[in-house]
Amino acid sequence: MNEDRLRLRLGVNIDHVATIRNARGGRHPDPVRAAHMAVEAGADGITAHLREDRRHITDDDIARLSAEIDRPLNLEMAATEEMLAIALRHAPHAACIVPERREERTTEGGLDVAGGHNHIAPFVARLAEAGIRVSLFIEPEARQVDAAAGLRAPVVELHTGAYCEAALAGDGPRRERELARLRQAAAHAAEAGLEVHAGHGLTFETVGGVAALPAVAELNIGHFLIGEAIFGGLDSAVRRMRAAIDTAQRRAGVSPG
Ligand code: PXP
Repeated sequence: MNEDRLRLRLGVNIDHVATIRNARGGRHPDPVRAAHMAVEAGADGITAHLREDRRHITDDDIARLSAEIDRPLNLEMAATEEMLAIALRHAPHAACIVPERREERTTEGGLDVAGGHNHIAPFVARLAEAGIRVSLFIEPEARQVDAAAGLRAPVVELHTGAYCEAALAGDGPRRERELARLRQAAAHAAEAGLEVHAGHGLTFETVGGVAALPAVAELNIGHFLIGEAIFGGLDSAVRRMRAAIDTAQRRAGVSPG
């Protein structure tokens, strides 16, 4: 196992700081300020999703994040010409292609790479040509992993939504099944030479199961952290998440400490 895999990277998604700002218009709270705070608290990277309808993050936010944040920026984007042009303009460290329209997603919510191969392929190629590390947000299914590998995307991000929903519902057996799906898909992707990320819906309580999967190199977490920040501050929320990840890795024997 290489050193990079030993310490899981934590990407903090600051979209919902912008959601709150946009509820009133104006500039407060500023997602770029939140990004600075998250970095101070130990975030290894910042993630932001520029949606086609700009419901939270704006073009100006992306420009400021690119200019001001000295950690890797992961731009989540739909596979559209408009988003591609924005990504090429700002050249973030990484771009994660996510579904936005119903027809682009699988029944559970990941990008349908297996079904949408022809549409997605040129976006992967053009981002990669520009030196942007491309990741595809997919369900934890072998056929989606294989399709991503076929497109030569270097990274897949596994959708943890079904696992987190099962946990929220208190359905232990379903939670275990969903975690097993994540484990299998992560191992399969790593065997195929892909770097494995994971995210969606993770909390202090659910993060440990995913952090303990040896193939996973990065987690991207947003909504829960921004929600927790209301009660205890963003700094504390990020630090607690980092600690929960480190503890899970140590217990699972996948960290050096
Ligand atoms: N990863 C991807 C690809 C996402 O689209 C999202 C949600 O925007 C997340 C991670 C983070 O999910 P959450 O906000 O539920 O933590």
